[in-house]
Amino acid sequence: IVSFKPNVKLRLLIDALASYATTPSFSIDYRQNCFLKDGEAFRYISGSIHYSRIPRVYWKDRLLKMYMAGLNAIQTYVPWNFHEPVPGQYDFSGDRDLEHFLQLCQDIGLLVIMRPGPYICAEWDMGGLPSWLLKKKDIVLRSSDPDYLAAVDKWMGQLLPIINRHLYQNGGPIITVQVENEYGSYFACDYNYMRHLSQLFRSHLGEEVVLFTTDGAGVGYLKCGSLQGIYATVDFGPGSNVTAAFEAQRHAEPRGPLVNSEFYTGWLDHWGEKHVVIPTAAVVKSLNEILEMGANVNLYMFIGGTNFGYWNGANSPYGPQPTSYDYDAPLTEAGDLTEKYFAIREVIKMYKELPGGLLPPSTPKFAYGQLCSVMLVIYMVPLCSLLCLICALNMDVSLSRQAFGFMLYQTVLPVNCLKPTPLSSPLNGVHDRAYISIDGIAAGILERNKALTINITGKAGSRVDVLVENMGRINYGKEINDFKATKTFLFTSCFSKATFTQQRCSQKLKSFSLAFFFKDTYIQFPNWRKGQVWINGFNVGRYWPSRGPQVTLFVPAHLLSTSVQNNITVLELEASPCSSGSCTVEFTDTPVINGTVKSTGHFKSSSTDKTFWSRTILE
Ligand SMILES: *[C@@H]1O[C@H](CO)[C@@H](O)[C@H](O)[C@H]1NC(C)=O
Ligand SMILES: *[C@@H]1O[C@H](CO)[C@@H](O)[C@H](O)[C@H]1NC(C)=O
Ligand SMILES: *[C@@H]1O[C@H](CO)[C@@H](O)[C@H](O)[C@H]1NC(C)=O
Ligand SMILES: *[C@@H]1O[C@H](CO)[C@@H](O)[C@H](O)[C@H]1NC(C)=O
Repeated sequence: IVSFKPNVKLRLLIDALASYATTPSFSIDYRQNCFLKDGEAFRYISGSIHYSRIPRVYWKDRLLKMYMAGLNAIQTYVPWNFHEPVPGQYDFSGDRDLEHFLQLCQDIGLLVIMRPGPYICAEWDMGGLPSWLLKKKDIVLRSSDPDYLAAVDKWMGQLLPIINRHLYQNGGPIITVQVENEYGSYFACDYNYMRHLSQLFRSHLGEEVVLFTTDGAGVGYLKCGSLQGIYATVDFGPGSNVTAAFEAQRHAEPRGPLVNSEFYTGWLDHWGEKHVVIPTAAVVKSLNEILEMGANVNLYMFIGGTNFGYWNGANSPYGPQPTSYDYDAPLTEAGDLTEKYFAIREVIKMYKELPGGLLPPSTPKFAYGQLCSVMLVIYMVPLCSLLCLICALNMDVSLSRQAFGFMLYQTVLPVNCLKPTPLSSPLNGVHDRAYISIDGIAAGILERNKALTINITGKAGSRVDVLVENMGRINYGKEINDFKATKTFLFTSCFSKATFTQQRCSQKLKSFSLAFFFKDTYIQFPNWRKGQVWINGFNVGRYWPSRGPQVTLFVPAHLLSTSVQNNITVLELEASPCSSGSCTVEFTDTPVINGTVKSTGHFKSSSTDKTFWSRTILE
C-alpha cells in the first residue's frame, strides 16, 4: 500500500486529465445528435476521392484542392481486386500504396472516412470483388457462403491491421469505417453475413471505432442494410426531399448525427448513353439544405478520376461504363477546378471558415498534335492448347487464369456455308463482345444484350476466329457473378483456344522533341472505332468514339518520358483507318466526354476491311 502526500495525488490527477485530453478520440454523441471529436461536437463536410482512379503523383494535388474547398474529411473505397489480383498475393505498392495516401491526407489536414468493403460497388469491376471468387461456380457473393467468408476473412486479415494503424484514436486520420456497402439494395439480406463482418471488423479495429453502414434513403433499404451496433447512414442526391431522406435515417437511428454518406455531385456514364450533367444550381441548393440542418455530408464524387486499364464496371442489363469517371464532379477527371467547385466552396464558406493559402491551379494541358502511323502490324495470336467449347468456359476459370482483357477461340467450319448462315449466341452467352472473322476476314460482331446473331459465309475447313472481349464486370445488383468470355455458341464442334497477350510496342516516337512531354494531355482517335491503348506500356483504357459519349482519353504527364522516345500501342478491334490511308492519333488539350452517342453503332464489314485486331505501332 502506497500512501501519497496530497500534492502528489493532485499531480497524478492533473496528469490523468492531461493525458485524457491529448488522447485523440472519436465517437457518437446520442444526446446532442452529433459526432464527438476529442470530446467536442464535430460535423464533417467530406468529399469522395478514389486513390485507385488517380495516379499516385497527383494524390497530393487533388487532396490539397479538396482541402482548399473547405472540406475537413475525404472518403475513399478500398477495391479488393486492386490489391489481391491473385489469391494470397497482395499489392500495396505504387498507385496501390494506401498507407502513403492516408499519410498525405493527414499531412494536409484531412480526416478519412474509410470504406473497405469487401464489396464497394463504385462502378468498379465486379464492385471490387476479385473475379477469382467465381472459381466456385455457385458461390453466393456478399453472403455467409463459407468459401466467400473464408476469402473475406483472409483479405481483411491483411487490410484491417493497416487501417487500424491509421485510426484517429491511434494517431491517424481515419474517423469512421464503413461495413459493406448499400447492403440493403442486395437480394441476399443475410444478417449473419453482416454480423460476421461486424465481428471481424471489431476484432481487428477494437470496440471504440465508429463503424457505419450506408443505404439508400428509404426504410426498405435500411431493413436489410443496417445492423445493431453499427451506425446507419443514408445516401441521396440533389433534388431529393432532404427532410424525408433524413427521416428514413431516423427510422433506423432515432438519435445520433444525421449523415448523408453519398451526396451526388454528378452521375455515372455508360457507353452508348448520353453523358450525364447534374446542374450546379441543383447541387448547391440541396447541399445548403443539408448543411443548414447541421447534418454531416460526403460529396460523391469530389473528383472521379479515371478507370485506367480494364477497371471499369458495368450495370445490368449489361451496360459497361467508360474509361473516364469524371462524374461531372467539382474537380474534373484531370483535377481541374470547375464552376461547380467554386459554387460548392461558396456554400461551405457560409458554415465554416475556409483555409488560407493558395489554391493550386489546374494542371496545364498540352495539345501535342497528330501522330502518324508508319507501320501496321497484323496482330498474330499464338495458338495454345485444345479445349472443347461446347461446355461453358469462361475467362476466370480458364487455364490461363486471365481475369481481364481478351480471349481468342478458334475452330474450322465443319460444313460449307455458302449462303449467309446465322451464327448466334442464343442464350446471350457472349460476355461481352465477340469479333468474328472467317479466314482472317472480318465477318461481324456479337454483343451481349445487343447483337445475338450474325450471318457468316465460308467454305468447309475455313478458320473461324472468335476474339471475346471482357468489357467490365457488373458492379451492382444480383448479377455481380459476372462470368466472362463466352458460354455457348451455335457451333458445337471442338474449338482450339488461345490466350491473347498484350504486346508492348517496340517502336519509337521519333518525331517529338524531348522537351514537349511534361504536360497532361488527352488522346483521341479520329476515324478509329473501338479498342485499347497503351502508352509506354501503361494501359490508359478503352476508346470507343464510334459509340460515345467519351471521345478523348486522359493521359497524365507522368506516363510520358522527357528523356527517351515515347511508345504508343493501339489495339483496334473493329477497323483502323490505316487500311484507307489516313492513320493518325491526336493529342489535344481539351477533353471531350460528351460526344454524340450511338446505342448500337455496329460495325458492318466491307470488302476494304480485311481484318479485325490490327495492332498499330505509331511512330
Ligand atoms: C418533404 O418531406 C417532408 C417529410 O416527409 C414533408 O412534410 C414535406 O411536405 C416534403 N416536402 C415537399 C416539398 O414535398
Ligand atoms: C441473315 O440472312 C437471312 C437470309 O438472307 C436474313 O433474312 C437475315 O435477316 C440475316 N440476319 C442478319 C442478322 O443479318
Ligand atoms: C520505347 O521503346 C523503346 C524500344 O523498346 C525503348 O528503348 C524506350 O525506352 C521506350 N520508351 C519508354 C518511355 O518506355
Ligand atoms: C460538351 O461539354 C463542353 C464543355 O463543358 C461544352 O462546351 C459543350 O457544349 C458540350 N457539348 C455537348 C454536345 O453537350
